[in-house]
Amino acid sequence: MFRIKIPATSANLGPGFDCLGMALQLYNTITVETKRPFRISLTGSYKEGIPADESNLVWRTMCHFWDLIHYPVPTVDLTFENCIPPARGLGSSSAAIVGGLAAANAIAGSPYTKLELLQIANALEGHPDNVTPALYGGVTLSVPTEKGVLPRVLAQSPNLKAVVIIPDTPLNTKKARSILPPQVHRKDAVFNISHVSLLTEAFIREEYSLLKEAMCDKLHQSQRAALIPGLLETLEAALQAGAYGAALSGSGPTLLTLIPRSFTEDVSLIMTNMLEKHGINAEAMVLEIDANGASSI
Ligand code: HSE
Repeated sequence: MFRIKIPATSANLGPGFDCLGMALQLYNTITVETKRPFRISLTGSYKEGIPADESNLVWRTMCHFWDLIHYPVPTVDLTFENCIPPARGLGSSSAAIVGGLAAANAIAGSPYTKLELLQIANALEGHPDNVTPALYGGVTLSVPTEKGVLPRVLAQSPNLKAVVIIPDTPLNTKKARSILPPQVHRKDAVFNISHVSLLTEAFIREEYSLLKEAMCDKLHQSQRAALIPGLLETLEAALQAGAYGAALSGSGPTLLTLIPRSFTEDVSLIMTNMLEKHGINAEAMVLEIDANGASSI
């Protein structure tokens, strides 16, 4: 028997569209018992609506991996504990893919490295910004190269906390991507390139006061505000309250705010109240950054 935990992740961090991400201490876990009849059991706060049969994304990913390496599909008894809210911009599908690959690789005797698993995860997910931090932990940069994704960990354990504000209605990533124009203006591209560079500096030098400016974006957030009423006002309210920085988490609808560890202002309340004024009910969580990525427990 073995167990793997996979962190939730927040992608983009503002300007780093499809490139930057961060792992959070909120986990899905996969428990594998071998030599048992095939069974999938679901536990955890977010098991509703997740299939417990062969259409389950974790299981499909496991089978995909075994197929790739020509490994016979074993009979296993799987328990998935789902604590990451699905379709909220917290990397639940990446956690399923990364967890499925890590578990299937372990069952097969670990023939693949983490870097090789990342390439498969990226191909399955379609963008690397959640799967990289889910595998490596910390704050990550995913660089698309001709040889695949080059993952860089900018900071393993930054000295800050994340507040995530999670609206109760899901938002499909496909839909949140479909509203983005296929082309961007050069001045917006320049804005984002410079802000990602500043954000990289902020994490590497631990100069978190830079984050307020560094987390600004021109490529997707204001466009997505149409799908999340009150988004921009709520991010602004977090900054007014003294947060280091605030951004849409992945494609939303969750909002990510980074705050000093010693922060006493109730930024969660300020943000949930602001969203409520726009008709959105949301739950708040204060989370530490995960430093390890998917790992055995
Ligand atoms: N980077 C992706 C997007 C989301 O903004 O569409 C990843 O969760």
